[in-house]
Amino acid sequence: MLPKLFLLAATALLSVNAQSSAPAAAAPSGAAFTFKETYPSGGSKPTPKPEWMELIKNANITNAPVVKAGPDGPTQSGNADPYCDWTFTGCTRPDDIVACPKGQWGITYDDGPTAFSPKLYDFLDKTQQKSTLFMIGGQVVAFPDLVTRAYKSNHEIAMHTWSHSYLTTETNEQIVAELMWTATAIKEVTGVTPRFYRPPYGDIDDRVRSIGHALGFIPVIWNHDTDDWRVAEDKTFNEKWIDGNATQWAKDAATAETGGISLEHDLYQKTVDAAIRILPTLQKAYKVTTVGQCVNQPSYKEGGANATSSASASASASASVAPKSSSAAGASGSVSPAGASSSSAAQNTESGASRTAISSAVLVLGASVAYMLI
Ligand SMILES: *[C@@H]1O[C@H](CO)[C@@H](O)[C@H](O)[C@H]1NC(C)=O
Ligand SMILES: *[C@@H]1O[C@H](CO)[C@@H](O)[C@H](O)[C@H]1NC(C)=O
Ligand SMILES: *[C@@H]1O[C@H](CO)[C@@H](O)[C@H](O)[C@H]1NC(C)=O
Repeated sequence: MLPKLFLLAATALLSVNAQSSAPAAAAPSGAAFTFKETYPSGGSKPTPKPEWMELIKNANITNAPVVKAGPDGPTQSGNADPYCDWTFTGCTRPDDIVACPKGQWGITYDDGPTAFSPKLYDFLDKTQQKSTLFMIGGQVVAFPDLVTRAYKSNHEIAMHTWSHSYLTTETNEQIVAELMWTATAIKEVTGVTPRFYRPPYGDIDDRVRSIGHALGFIPVIWNHDTDDWRVAEDKTFNEKWIDGNATQWAKDAATAETGGISLEHDLYQKTVDAAIRILPTLQKAYKVTTVGQCVNQPSYKEGGANATSSASASASASASVAPKSSSAAGASGSVSPAGASSSSAAQNTESGASRTAISSAVLVLGASVAYMLI
């Protein structure tokens, strides 16, 4: 039931954003971004362009049935797990990214950008922490200026599908559309094509994997779940649990066999506040990085860009600036998130709460979002 609530809330958020005019939401950094594509409406299950289906025509797509959707998500039939379905058994394949190497931590935030993202971005900027942001396609279209901001700050921009649906319950066509519409929107704004996607709810099986693979995308799950979304959707949830878990994970750093990848959301005020509270705890125990950096894979199809650099600083022309050979890849050693975070970890003076450099337009939007979700 809880995942379903989450879905409804996410959909509500998307529809609020769809109603508000994107330019108003994007106002803080000046000229509004204009998309060339006509996108499906936010949160809807999209259909693919015919040429996208051509991309997988000759690929080896696993011939597994579309999983039946029950009221609470995918429903398993029988106990066998022939297609390595994470939702049912926690099964993963070698190409799935689930954890960082020992001593490292991939910090990830899902469902943005939202009106609450600027507060998180401010905090990350201030502590020079780079993160992986799994963005929802409709949110990218609603908040292009936040995508640009995150990209310029050298966060790793990644995909969280278009409609935030259970991918195993969708047809091959729908899965292609979920990924490609989201990739297209991100590419329009940043000039680069993300490689990483996180299936909503972690819901992935071999059919979904094979489609993602045929399109050149890599799935990222997690091995540490904050359950943070429950803070806004489940009255029985105690928000101190988020801090309690983070403290435990920090304690585990010395003995754990692998490092971590955590699941958090920049979906609500309270999840952003929790993210800000627990980050210093993780930074003290781990080298906290983007996912691409800890697994040493490029963030984008156009090239590297795993390294943090200031190369994209000039970026309003970002559409043509693929951070490719990232000049800075090597040179950026001095600004590496790890170095920065370990030095800043101790000075946790920043609550983030006072840094509301967001425009009143966004605040108003944020308020209406919060109201809708109660
Ligand atoms: C297609 O994928 C399946 C499952 O991953 C594998 O068993 C099979 O060998 C592959 N076939 C080809 C022709 O690559
Ligand atoms: C971690 O979170 C879970 C809920 O997701 C909670 O039941 C548990 O008590 C938390 N652990 C700590 C140490 O706070
Ligand atoms: C980025 O990736 C390249 C190759 O994938 C690797 O050599 C380099 O060390 C990485 N940089 C960082 C900062 O992780």
